[in-house]
Amino acid sequence: MDAMVRPIETVMDDGDRKTVVTLRPVPQAADIARTFIEHRMLVEGRPDLVDDATLIASEFITNAYVHVPAAEFFKLMLCWNAGSPLIEVWDPSWALPRPRTLADGDGFLLSTSGKGLFIVSRLAQSWGSRRIPKMKGGGKIVWARLPKNEEE
Ligand SMILES: Nc1ncnc2c1ncn2[C@@H]1O[C@H](COP(=O)(O)OP(=O)(O)OP(=O)(O)O)[C@@H](O)[C@H]1O
Ligand SMILES: [Mg+2]
Repeated sequence: MDAMVRPIETVMDDGDRKTVVTLRPVPQAADIARTFIEHRMLVEGRPDLVDDATLIASEFITNAYVHVPAAEFFKLMLCWNAGSPLIEVWDPSWALPRPRTLADGDGFLLSTSGKGLFIVSRLAQSWGSRRIPKMKGGGKIVWARLPKNEEE
C-alpha cells in the first residue's frame, strides 16, 4: 500500500451508539471492517454475531471496493436499535446492488461469483439498499440488520 494512503480516515462515535468509520478504497479495507465489527460485537456483548456480522461487513466493503472503483472513500456504519445491530455501508455510486437468487437457475448455481449478497440475505434478518438524495451527499447505502439478543 502507498505509505501516504491512510486506510482509515475518520472514526466517529456520535454518542448515540452509532459509529462511523471512513475507509479508503485500499485492499485492506475489508479486513479493517472485519476487525472493527468484531471489536464492536464483543464490546456490545454479542459474540454470537461476530461471524455473521464480520462476513456481512466484509461482503459490503468488498462490493464497494470492486464495483465502485472510482470511489474516494466508503463509510462503514454500525448502530444499535433495541439490541439489534444495523450494519450500513455508504458508497458514492447510485447503482444499486443486483443480487442474484436461486431463481436465476443454473447460471447462478454453477457460477463462482455473484454469491456475496445471496449469503448476506441468508445471514441477515433483513437487508436492502437505498439511494441517498444528492442534497444529502448522494450515493447509496447498503444495509443489513441482525437479530437482537433474545435473552435480554
Ligand atoms: N456497492 C455496489 N455498487 C454497485 N453495484 C453493486 C454493489 N454491490 C453489488 N453490486 C452489483 O450486484 C451484483 C451482485 O453482488 P454480489 O456481491 O452478490 O456478487 P459479486 O460481488 O459479483 O460476486 P461475489 O460477491 O460472489 O464475489 C454485483 O455483481 C454488482 O453488479
Ligand atoms: Mg460481492
